[in-house]
Amino acid sequence: MSSTLFESGNDIDFVASCPLGLEKALKYELKSLGAASLQVERGCVKGSVERSLIGKLNVCSRIAHTIMLPIARVKVESEKAFVDWVHDRAHTWICEREEIRFEADAIAHKDAPINARSLNFVFSDALRDSLVKAKRPRPTRSKFQPQYRFLVVWSRDGVEVLLSSSGRPLHMRGFRRGVKVNAPMRESVAAGLLSMGNASARFAFHDPFCGSGTIAIEQTLKALNIFPGASRKFDAEYWPGDAWGLKQGFGEAKAEAKAKVLSSLESEIRLSDWHDNAIEAATQCIENAGLRKYIEAKRLDARKSILDDDSQTIVSNLPFGERLATNRLQLDGLYRTFGERLQQTKWHRVLIFSAHPKTDTLMGLGKPEKRWPIPSGKIRSFLYRWSR
Ligand SMILES: C[S@@+](CC[C@H](N)C(=O)[O-])C[C@H]1O[C@@H](n2cnc3c(N)ncnc32)[C@H](O)[C@@H]1O
Repeated sequence: MSSTLFESGNDIDFVASCPLGLEKALKYELKSLGAASLQVERGCVKGSVERSLIGKLNVCSRIAHTIMLPIARVKVESEKAFVDWVHDRAHTWICEREEIRFEADAIAHKDAPINARSLNFVFSDALRDSLVKAKRPRPTRSKFQPQYRFLVVWSRDGVEVLLSSSGRPLHMRGFRRGVKVNAPMRESVAAGLLSMGNASARFAFHDPFCGSGTIAIEQTLKALNIFPGASRKFDAEYWPGDAWGLKQGFGEAKAEAKAKVLSSLESEIRLSDWHDNAIEAATQCIENAGLRKYIEAKRLDARKSILDDDSQTIVSNLPFGERLATNRLQLDGLYRTFGERLQQTKWHRVLIFSAHPKTDTLMGLGKPEKRWPIPSGKIRSFLYRWSR
């Protein structure tokens, strides 16, 4: 492995990607894990960290999608100069003497001499040629369990090559495997909403529109101090040798994470939904996540499921209509009657994630204390917070 990592003393640079709108929540999380000099950009947070902590960020982050390491930067003006540059050095980025599989993605600024698709293509080709020239087996580009995942970014400042230390995206916790889910929320989005809205594990919790249970499962994992990466492998752990001094950090972070797991919840976590298939999916996800002892999905109409409890936090991703093709008037009625139920009951905090443009007026809970834009794919959606 080359020593082209961007380092200062024992610290190295990293880029953590995340869902749009959750960059600030990720910054806060990374800071709490020991990262410094953090800079928020669209869809990511850049920073530096003591090298042994790259493992900890991977093991513990609930909001990041991948922890990437910038491995090379260059200022070039033309496609040819870029290809020559990759050709000269790409073989130093990969240590294996065996044939490897790699994957690449690219982002190109509009003023770059080539578009993202071509950039990806020429990068992959130059990388293959570089290894062959160094008398190594020709690598295969493959989406199937690649050992190296590159990202090439051609920005106004030049070109940067990043390598993912994570491998399989961090938000894929594994509890959804084999479960049929309708319009599920990404695990990282659920974790980000809980963090932005400050849903404390000290208070009782209820998701009355739980769908496959993602939000309540993320809240339970957090409340029990179960870190998402404690039992998985990351790409950086498979790379031969350890020229960048990262490996020990992964082992230590996993051991530390496992030692922190709690055996009981401080406050009750409830989840419910009206549809049988949602309950079936949530039950399966709870089982897969190993949480059957702690939470149970119940089939209840949201408007009847809310308990009178002034210490509870109610968190829900309400149906949007756009995705679930629900009749608009029916949907408005659901928001209104659910809002009326909330007006009549006790709670401490309500967090609603929705793309319905009239969410706050229909709910009738007054002006939300806060509202954050968090896009749901291409749909404009918001997280609303009310507190008492
Ligand atoms: C946007 S989905 C929630 C998705 C969920 N966050 C996930 O990750 O799977 C909204 C859910 O509201 C449920 N729902 C719709 N009307 C309801 C009602 N009156 N009471 C309870 N649940 C309802 C639907 O069955 C659906 O599962």
